Amino acid sequence: MGEFDLFLRVDDDRCVLLRASSHPFTLAHRERLIDNAVRTLFVRAEEYRTYTRYLEHHLDEILANPEVPSARKADFLYTVSSNVVEDCLSTPRSATIVPRTRALAGRTVDFVLRSERSLGHLAVLMENDYYTFTHSINVSVFAAALAHKVGVPRWEMTEFVTGALLHDLGKAEVPHELLVKPGKLSEDELRIVRSHVTIGERLLQEHGRLSMTALLPVSLHHEKIDGSGYPRAFRGDDIHLFGRIAAIADCFDAMTTNRAYQPAMKAFDALQQMRTTLDLQFDQHLLEVFIRLLRAPDVAATLKQKADAGRPPADSLVA
Ligand SMILES: [Fe+2]
Repeated sequence: MGEFDLFLRVDDDRCVLLRASSHPFTLAHRERLIDNAVRTLFVRAEEYRTYTRYLEHHLDEILANPEVPSARKADFLYTVSSNVVEDCLSTPRSATIVPRTRALAGRTVDFVLRSERSLGHLAVLMENDYYTFTHSINVSVFAAALAHKVGVPRWEMTEFVTGALLHDLGKAEVPHELLVKPGKLSEDELRIVRSHVTIGERLLQEHGRLSMTALLPVSLHHEKIDGSGYPRAFRGDDIHLFGRIAAIADCFDAMTTNRAYQPAMKAFDALQQMRTTLDLQFDQHLLEVFIRLLRAPDVAATLKQKADAGRPPADSLVA
């Protein structure tokens, strides 16, 4: 076990030390917990990041462990993803962000490809409110599932998902108040917010460790089929498949989470809008495949469960 103290809750507002970080966590500890049906242990808030780094280092073993239910694996993956992407956004020049993100992308791809139910398990964990780091994870999950569905080979998936996780890295250098400003942005403010694409490209090129494949979702996620996107206003098939997939995942998650300037839309309404009023902006074939993915019974049920909390159902999508 990691370098953190473990606590056991004994009543509503009291925990006792179960194991100090300096002592081993033994089989006897484990068996006593199982005998007493203890399912939850606690760590100090200040040691939470040590705990999540421990999870990150052991994610392979956790995800490969047949005793861990798939929903719990999704939870661990989402927790580690939150930690990694938050670190990327707070220290975008750190040399460790690309290798950490690539390792995480590999685990995400493995998890999404392993089972049709993975998307549903991950969807349960998606936040209703928009944060750049949770949005990045959601986009990577939707993008991985969609890319897999349209036959992107496994060997390209990890690089693509690495880029999807980092697609908004440039926002690390955009003033936060602009990212959360309610109401309409001025021309100048809009230009600054939109610069996150080229800032992200520059940051990642400075790292020098990212493949061209991984840069595609970073560079292209705001391009639109009709040429109305930015920063390059590419059109149609000039936008690489990975850019078209990232644009759908990005837009859907942004529309269905609460923003400072607009409340979350229902999944059904967001998808309807993407296939009607915004139909010229998105690859409609990819969008249809995406809609079918969200109509899978467990994904639709998951989104439906979240509807009460603000994330809308997708079970009634028009075929
Ligand atoms: Fe973006």
